[in-house]
Amino acid sequence: MPKRDSFKMWGGRFEGKLSPEAEAYSYSLQHDVRLWKQELQVNAAYARMLGIRGLLSTHEANRLVDALLEIHTELEEGEWFPSDEYEDIHTAIEARLYEKVGALAGKLHMGRSRNDLIATEVRMWLRERTTNLARALFDLCQQLMQLAAQHKETLMPGLTHQQHAQPVTLGHHLMAHCWAFIRDLSRLAHAGDRMNLCPLGAGALAGTSLPIDRELLAAELGFAMPVPNSMDAVSDRDFVAEYLFVCALLMVHLSRLAQELILWSTPEYGYVELSDEHTTGSSLMPQKKNPDIAELIRGRSALVIGNLMGMLALLKGLPLTYNRDLQDDKPLLFATIDTVVPSVRLMTEMLARAQWRPERMRAALQRDFSTATELADYLVRKGVPFREAHHIVGQLVRECIQQGIGLEDLTLEQLQRHHPRFEADALEVISPERAVRARTLLGGTAPESVEQQIEQAQQWLAVIEHQLNELLNPN
Ligand code: ARG
Repeated sequence: MPKRDSFKMWGGRFEGKLSPEAEAYSYSLQHDVRLWKQELQVNAAYARMLGIRGLLSTHEANRLVDALLEIHTELEEGEWFPSDEYEDIHTAIEARLYEKVGALAGKLHMGRSRNDLIATEVRMWLRERTTNLARALFDLCQQLMQLAAQHKETLMPGLTHQQHAQPVTLGHHLMAHCWAFIRDLSRLAHAGDRMNLCPLGAGALAGTSLPIDRELLAAELGFAMPVPNSMDAVSDRDFVAEYLFVCALLMVHLSRLAQELILWSTPEYGYVELSDEHTTGSSLMPQKKNPDIAELIRGRSALVIGNLMGMLALLKGLPLTYNRDLQDDKPLLFATIDTVVPSVRLMTEMLARAQWRPERMRAALQRDFSTATELADYLVRKGVPFREAHHIVGQLVRECIQQGIGLEDLTLEQLQRHHPRFEADALEVISPERAVRARTLLGGTAPESVEQQIEQAQQWLAVIEHQLNELLNPN
């Protein structure tokens, strides 16, 4: 079969052709070429189904499947690549199929449309990429849990409003981040479940009167079931918006952690030193060590948030069903996944290679009044109403500040001048070590509570992993 000039899937109805500028404007091959594997898989499943339903002879179906396998090899080995004369991946593959099997290639498209093809293939692509993203997130959680276990006794100031509030452990702090990523994983699994329905067979919008088998197609392609409504099947891109939201929130979580690493690696904090592998120097100032990777993660979160906004805006005015606007979901989706996976991986690496400085964190608790609440609670235990206790300790703090001392410098006499119920053991509750050790409640910062929390996190992760396995490796 001779190669056709400017192969198109349509044209019979037209006398003229697209202006070169309009043609260039509408091309999508540069993006959807990434879907070539899914396009081939869908085509093969469709050919087999047509064979089973008697819409193709067995011989024809086999011939198509073999040719598709050949194209797969060609693409994998780099022996053939769609040239940019083709509008999109569907056209490019169909043209290649023509070159291999002639007019038989034209039978494959019966009963279907690029509208149901693209909706199916993007879902499959995303499902495949979910594996990478989920793996990266699991690794990040494991890294955080490992650090948390190592630092379950490492004291540091816990902050509210960026002011020293109460002592916590680094382990507890890192686990707080970990739970956010566990939620991201859970959202990913749920979004995956909602996405895992097969649009194929919906045709352009209204299905087909040809006796195709949508259930077979869905099962062959690893979907839970066909999308129940053909119009919804071709016009729905909720799954893209939802994934972008999952990614945007995940990037927000990464950005908050990155921001802390940036702050903590300043000389003012000095809690952590990031590895040379994740920092850069200055072209001007020889002494500099800049946390560029953390900054880039923080910055890239903005781009991903932008992609989510772009996607929602793309959808909001669209009447049913398919509209060409939908083509532009792919650059947003691809750019997002391309950003998010390395961001998660780099954060994991950065945490693993960082040098933590427990002595600096402990030093930050010196004379910082972060155990003032312990003193108030002490009085509460002695029967003093909390409001009164709060006021008394507030006055104590003020007096210390005036004298330039910390709570740990107070004597029993000074305490007793403020309230007679203070006894010798009051001096002990001022210790941050003690304050942390005493918080053994569920979800508290005491080492054993943090340990318990890590175990809980492992259980949550196991449940999510099971859920994702069912989605990604269906039998
Ligand atoms: N390239 C389109 C997209 O990505 C799919 C093809 C449907 N095109 C069309 N003119 N109906 O959404």
